Amino acid sequence: MKRILVTGGLGFIGSHTVVELQNEGFEVIIIDDLSNTSIKVLDSITEITGTKPDFHQIDLRIKNDVKTFFDNNKVDGIIHFAAFKAVGESMYKPLDYYENNLGALVYLLQEMRDRKLDNFIFSSSCTVYGQADELPITEKAPVKTAESVYGSTKQIGEEILKNASNAHNLNIIALRYFNPIGAHESVKIGELPLGVPQNLIPFITQTAAGIRKELSVFGDDYNTPDGTAIRDYIHVVDLAKAHIAALQRLMNKNNKKSFEFFNVGTGKGSSVLEIINAFEKVNNLKLNYKIVDRREGDITAAYADTTIANKELGWKTEKSLEEALESAWKWQLQNN
Ligand code: UD1
Repeated sequence: MKRILVTGGLGFIGSHTVVELQNEGFEVIIIDDLSNTSIKVLDSITEITGTKPDFHQIDLRIKNDVKTFFDNNKVDGIIHFAAFKAVGESMYKPLDYYENNLGALVYLLQEMRDRKLDNFIFSSSCTVYGQADELPITEKAPVKTAESVYGSTKQIGEEILKNASNAHNLNIIALRYFNPIGAHESVKIGELPLGVPQNLIPFITQTAAGIRKELSVFGDDYNTPDGTAIRDYIHVVDLAKAHIAALQRLMNKNNKKSFEFFNVGTGKGSSVLEIINAFEKVNNLKLNYKIVDRREGDITAAYADTTIANKELGWKTEKSLEEALESAWKWQLQNN
């Protein structure tokens, strides 16, 4: 049985990926520092799959703890989710973001180099493209100057990976996620935002639940059909499965270059108003919302061209936007 280390394995995308890995017969070891999630997620994963993953509470910024972990655990692949992800916060805590998102990455790669480990999957983001000149966005689109420190950590992270893969014969795939939403069909795991949600879907579900008074729609004067901004919202379970496909590509040595990156989205863009309408319809409720000014740093539109990911990873999305919005609402109700 192949043993896969999943850092940040108790987070939103990480927990869904752990479930899919276990479903596919992998043995999973989780490292999480619990800074932005709860240990209860470990029990929820166990309830879903029937197998408790090995768990280590480790802060990856502590180099010696990373080393000790690898002294005691053999792994066949690493999926690295552990990182800070709040765009706004990254602007006033830049050093914390660089330390956590890049320091930990370097320590992991050093251990891989020193121990001749291989097969590494990195959480990147469509934010590396900024406002792309052409839509849908292909992997050929240039990386643009980052709008946030968070975005910068993803860009620099990819540079680090490219250099390390070349110099040390490491096989690495970066997955550039579009907007992950939704929750597992069991309603046992989902997104757990701390405080006031910054992302659209958790804000919508908390508004529908009465926790927030109303949703602010950030701008209706964008150059889009209804004036609101367009994103590519992907069901988190589909996104989780892309990690399995990427891992298998590396393990079966089907990769064409030592460092590759792929877009992981649905290929379909939805505007904020379309999301609101779809959420109301599928869950049969009405949402309080008002139009306000644009949010600083937001782009007009981003959605993926997934041709290359579909072909190279042998992966495609299976779930609809409606399923994602329905599962997000069920998850909210469960957690009220
Ligand atoms: C954001 C980050 C992105 C990151 C991703 C992680 C920015 C600029 N980008 O993506 O780098 O990878 O989160 O999940 O922050 N919206 C509203 N009202 C709200 C919240 C959002 O109208 O209360 C709108 C936004 O203006 C945007 C869309 O909904 O048009 C999606 O927003 P969000 O969920 O925050 O994701 P992104 O901004 O696309």
